[in-house]
Amino acid sequence: MSPTTPISAPPPPSSLSVFREGIFDGKVLFCTGGGSGICKEMTAAVLTHGANAAIVGRNVERNIKSAEELSKRTGRTVIALQADVREPKQVQEAVRKTIEKFGRIDFVICGAAGNFLAPIGGLSENAFKTVLSIDTLGTYNTLKATLPYVRESKGSYIHVSATLHYRGTPLQAHVSAAKAGVDALSNVIAVEEGPRGVRSNVLAPGAIKGTEGMERLSARDDQGRRIDSAQHIPLQRMGETQDIGNTTIFLFSDAANYITGQVFVVDGGSMHTGVLGHGYPESVLNPKPRL
Ligand code: COA
Repeated sequence: MSPTTPISAPPPPSSLSVFREGIFDGKVLFCTGGGSGICKEMTAAVLTHGANAAIVGRNVERNIKSAEELSKRTGRTVIALQADVREPKQVQEAVRKTIEKFGRIDFVICGAAGNFLAPIGGLSENAFKTVLSIDTLGTYNTLKATLPYVRESKGSYIHVSATLHYRGTPLQAHVSAAKAGVDALSNVIAVEEGPRGVRSNVLAPGAIKGTEGMERLSARDDQGRRIDSAQHIPLQRMGETQDIGNTTIFLFSDAANYITGQVFVVDGGSMHTGVLGHGYPESVLNPKPRL
């Protein structure tokens, strides 16, 4: 083969070809944002290895459909609970119902998030506050409500973050600030709760194909067409939800029982290539066609 031909990484393997089927038997997952996208597939991955789950979100119809589908797909029990993570009482009530149903919580995915592309000039105070309230305050509310049970089970947290705040990413001031807060919360929980046997890590996905986030947030050219960005990814393929699912299983498994307070970037290495999405500086000087 010519040394100038890029090689794509193989597709992600099924988790069952890598991890044993029953490693999460008897465990319970509480996942905010689990009704759709990446968090739904993270939930599916954990269910596949034996856990049951509560998926929590604002859109109750979508959550019920997702719970039925996940249950059918994996043969596990999945309950759909309605809560807006911005509302502490609603999150507490979802936790109460989870304990009522399953009696325990071992794993928590703080995944509920809001995002849209907007330059800071187009971000109202309420827009900025809304994303911080969902991502950062929502993570705090979820931590507070679940912690007593996660302490009891000596369980583990995964916070779904992003890579965009490791440098300045245009059109993402709100999400960058919000996710930086999420990463910081995870680190503090790791340090404060480690002596009680609780672990906390961050999973930061890159561009994952087939997700709502990708559909709405991926880079576009001047004509508004989506740009296939795989050439800028060192591993030469887009991420798949299974890549995130496999990392989730690893982080919740005993194989990771000495890992806490870390950020796991799952992006095929693209964070290092320094390519800004959405075209730069065009996306800043004239954002309209790209939003
Ligand atoms: N550009 C600029 N401002 C925007 C915006 C955009 N594309 N989308 C929403 N906002 C602003 C609204 O105008 C509003 O501010 P205002 O009161 O000053 O007008 C503020 O953000 C709150 O929006 P609203 O829709 O009222 O809040 P909400 O709580 O119902 O929903 C989101 C907020 C972020 C969840 C919503 O934008 C949304 O549904 N996003 C899609 C789902 C999503 O983000 N999924 C995650 C995929 S990664």
